[in-house]
Amino acid sequence: MTGIILLGPPGAGKGTQAKKLTEEFGIPQISTGDMLREAVKNGTELGRKAKAFMDSGGLVPDEVVIGIVKERLAAGDCAKGFILDGFPRTIPQAAALDRVAEELGKEIRFVLSLEVDPDELMERLCGRRTCTGCGAMYHVKFRAPKEDGKCDKCGTALIQRDDDREETIRKRLENYNKATAPLLDYYKTTGKIRSVMASGEIDAIYGNIVKILR
Ligand code: AP5
Ligand code: MG
Repeated sequence: MTGIILLGPPGAGKGTQAKKLTEEFGIPQISTGDMLREAVKNGTELGRKAKAFMDSGGLVPDEVVIGIVKERLAAGDCAKGFILDGFPRTIPQAAALDRVAEELGKEIRFVLSLEVDPDELMERLCGRRTCTGCGAMYHVKFRAPKEDGKCDKCGTALIQRDDDREETIRKRLENYNKATAPLLDYYKTTGKIRSVMASGEIDAIYGNIVKILR
């Protein structure tokens, strides 16, 4: 198995499904959102560049994101494969990925388009909680932790993401429709795109993804 792209709007379940794939297949999840949030938390130069864009629900400039993905894909743990979660997100990012993959001798095998009724996305994002320790993801209604506000896996406190506020979510959804949805057409001619019905039970959706990959 080589490279997989998870494509889908905010709240589609990219992170949730990527984590399950990582556990089962032992290939890394490359989430540009997680990498950028980590940089913001650590106050690095990258974090300082990205913060305002992220807080307003906008997209971080292409050259910044392309740079971090290029570096990440060259790491040894991507040799067997990788799961791109939240990248590419614009046509220039997709074109850059094609170039980088060729340079590094990597192949994108599948582009999985996670499809969810847009009305579900707001509720998913408003109720999301994330573990600050291990990154596990929860939902107050759909995937509640055993103990309120505490991670089942490592016991660390759960937080709500800064950009999971209704107004910011709306901006993120607008940006998805404007900048990212056109990628469906970009990949259409490659024969790599597969639609995944991403409403319903998390495990059932995962089962369908695994069927496609095998
Ligand atoms: P990023 O972190 O990538 O956020 P996003 O794309 O908005 O996607 P999310 O992480 O919000 O959703 P998800 O699809 O991962 O859903 P999840 O699995 O968590 O990016 C954040 C920001 O960083 C961007 O706005 C931008 O500023 C910047 N950025 C990142 N990458 C960039 C790039 N390439 N270029 C430029 N800027 C970039 O699920 C959501 C919730 O729903 C969870 O609570 C989960 O438990 C629940 N859930 C999941 N599946 C189900 C289900 N089947 N049923 C019910 N609930 C479910
Ligand atoms: Mg995510």
